[in-house]
Amino acid sequence: MSPSDPRQQAKELFALTEISKAISSSLDLTTVMQNILNLLHENLKMDRGTLTLLDRQTGELSIEVACGLDLDEIRRGRYKIGEGITGKVVAAGEPIVVPNVGKEPLFLNRTRSRDLTKSNIAFICVPIKLEDKTIGALSVDRLFREDISFDEDVKLLTIISSMIAQAVRIHELVEKEKESLTSENIRLKSELKKKFHPVNIVGESKRMIDVYSSIDLVSTTKATVMLRGESGTGKELVAKAIHYRSERADKPFIKVSCAALPETLLESELFGYEKGAFTGASAMKCGRFELAHTGTLFLDEIGDIPLSTQVKLLRVLQEKEFERLGGVETIHVDIRLIVATNKDLEREVREGKFREDLYYRLNVIPVFLPPLRERKEDLPLLVQHFLRKANEENGKQIKRVSDEAWEYLMNYSWPGNVREVENAIERAVVMCKEEVVGREHFPFDLQAHITKPADDALVAQNDGVQNLPQAIENLEKQLLLSALKKSSGNKRKAARLLGITERILGYKVKQYRLLYIR
Ligand SMILES: Nc1ncnc2c1ncn2[C@@H]1O[C@H](COP(=O)(O)OP(=O)(O)OP(=O)(O)O)[C@@H](O)[C@H]1O
Ligand SMILES: [Mg+2]
Repeated sequence: MSPSDPRQQAKELFALTEISKAISSSLDLTTVMQNILNLLHENLKMDRGTLTLLDRQTGELSIEVACGLDLDEIRRGRYKIGEGITGKVVAAGEPIVVPNVGKEPLFLNRTRSRDLTKSNIAFICVPIKLEDKTIGALSVDRLFREDISFDEDVKLLTIISSMIAQAVRIHELVEKEKESLTSENIRLKSELKKKFHPVNIVGESKRMIDVYSSIDLVSTTKATVMLRGESGTGKELVAKAIHYRSERADKPFIKVSCAALPETLLESELFGYEKGAFTGASAMKCGRFELAHTGTLFLDEIGDIPLSTQVKLLRVLQEKEFERLGGVETIHVDIRLIVATNKDLEREVREGKFREDLYYRLNVIPVFLPPLRERKEDLPLLVQHFLRKANEENGKQIKRVSDEAWEYLMNYSWPGNVREVENAIERAVVMCKEEVVGREHFPFDLQAHITKPADDALVAQNDGVQNLPQAIENLEKQLLLSALKKSSGNKRKAARLLGITERILGYKVKQYRLLYIR
């Protein structure tokens, strides 16, 4: 076929137009390249078109798309730069024409797609160049004829290869843009997470992330929240987080520890009293409901309020008004209520210890705080957090916990949850004289004996009653530890602070196995 054949020229022009259309029709590089090879085959009778691209990481050439080759043949089409005809084209950046592949020793026929014995196949391969760099090769087979000149084919394929190079460039730009958008997306998401993540609450476990989203959700409403969870799981912390994230943040946050107060005292705390309401009421006193007006009232240990107070509380919640004890004036309040309990409130309701109607009024949005043993993955962060805090408070510079101690911490069940971690780390920091906290700084025996932290020993436990000797023992331990902490482990100073002799202090420390003083 002569190069100046007008019919051939028209076909080539048509093919080029179609190829440029194919390039702009899709952002998917493989689709674009496949379409180009199909067009070459259909319009210009170029068979077994292959598009080979250089993998910049491995430095290897592999067939990206092909026309007229099956999957196995494509998979075999891998070359190193300089290897075979394709490898040479990429190495030199110049086209190569093999008029008869059967007679060319350099022709590897690695894809094994051609019958070389037929000796009538010509192979044309041109480089694909992008900004002076060869990034791959485009090759086609032609039926070999003695009279044929391949110059025209090379020219045409060179034009097409430069179009392919542009498509590759556009694809790379789009990919880069996509990558930067993805990383921007990840960054924004993590910022959002930080925003949702109350600063003083530590933990990245799935369970805690759920708690953070609940905090976020309920902060925007005025609905009553019931915080459930074992002792030391952070109920009070979360109650504060909800308040300080709500639009009531600049209004009062008032807490009432329902378990700590006997019945009559609790009522006067909640509702206040008028002067002379009872013996000793020498002046009017506002209740916590009044103090919390426009803000948040946090009723802690709600499961511990006596039935008679429950009735009064229910009325206030229903009618949003009440009278001070001994008073006649009706007081209206606008409060956001958050309650907390570590009790099985449903059981209390079944056993008639907690009013069902009050339960439903309070249990509008329950938020569950997971026990630490169910989110041990948060332990490292918590330990780090409390180490930093204890270092600051005690003027120490303890860097970390030893590997051996870690094993103990991770294997321990932490019945006192985060509060127990906080206390354990604080004690360890006080005790530790080196830069690394060791196993000997953690009083695990002691923890095994104390089921609840000592400050809880002052308040009533499950059914409002607790073992007095145990409570006294806990209190004693706590006082001893505080004094030792204050005196940085100096027994003489600690004894002076406690008003006891050093000998008695030593005896008690030994008795309770409090510390490992050397
Ligand atoms: N996720 C947490 N990150 C940091 N500190 C925490 C976390 N959870 C709890 N704490 C700390 O642990 C201690 C106990 O938390 P908090 O008083 O909120 O627990 P609680 O559930 O109210 O316990 P209780 O039922 O015994 O009253 C507090 O000093 C609190 O700051
Ligand atoms: Mg609490």
